[in-house]
Amino acid sequence: MNVLEVRGVRKTYESEGVPVRALRGLDMTMAEGEFVAVMGPSGCGKSTLLNLVAGLDAPTEGEITVAGESLTDKDENDLARMRRRHIGIVFQFFNLLEGMSVLENVTLPAVIAGTKRRQAESRARDLLDLLGLGDKARSAPGVLSGGQRQRLAIARALANAPTLLLADEPTGALDSEGGVEVLELFRRLHAGGQAILLVTHDEDVAAPATRIIRMRDGRVEDDGTGKAQPEPVGGSAPSAVQ
Ligand SMILES: Nc1ncnc2c1ncn2[C@@H]1O[C@H](COP(=O)(O)OP(=O)(O)OP(=O)(O)O)[C@@H](O)[C@H]1O
Ligand SMILES: [Mg+2]
Repeated sequence: MNVLEVRGVRKTYESEGVPVRALRGLDMTMAEGEFVAVMGPSGCGKSTLLNLVAGLDAPTEGEITVAGESLTDKDENDLARMRRRHIGIVFQFFNLLEGMSVLENVTLPAVIAGTKRRQAESRARDLLDLLGLGDKARSAPGVLSGGQRQRLAIARALANAPTLLLADEPTGALDSEGGVEVLELFRRLHAGGQAILLVTHDEDVAAPATRIIRMRDGRVEDDGTGKAQPEPVGGSAPSAVQ
């Protein structure tokens, strides 16, 4: 089964009364265990795509299916349930709970998803060990280095064993050492069978991916399978409709 299917997806935002066509008919699929990097110029719709796949926002048109479940027509509760079960998401700027310990940051998502605290905490400890943060469990996130903070954010995203791990510029806020740490981690997770969809500007970050999808003007220009993409209707128009 494909972990992700995106079919004919369009997303148009309204910005001060002006429609902004962020996605203009986008198709892609991801098989189980694939590690896909999405690349493309600023503003081409990468973060929009990730937000739609995460069910954080709805497409204007088209259909998205995660682990065989269509997100179309799901209400907020069902979407939240889908996210907890199938999606782990990592952002550029970590979004950690600063007032809580490292351990609690990883335990909480599973508790919220209905896992018993003791079990959630035990899985959180395993994840922290796996990600090399076992000795930081009692620390506050604030004492961690950038690379460690991002590894913690990844541990948190993995708390509910998601079908699909999404990452939007996960090394964008890190120095090169922190970036290497995080990349190495993605490589290991993929080797362990984790499906990963990662957005990046950086060819080095995309290098460990098994496939690179190149986007332009809200569409897939090259999906990395070697098959030609259909020509955009009307050529490459500017992304804001005047
Ligand atoms: N909430 C929003 N309201 C209005 N326009 C938006 C909104 N979010 C994104 N856009 C616009 O949609 C287009 C695609 O934005 P998106 O953030 O998906 O691009 P991106 O590829 O992630 O860019 P970057 O590489 O800079 O992060 C841009 O023109 C952007 O200005
Ligand atoms: Mg973006």
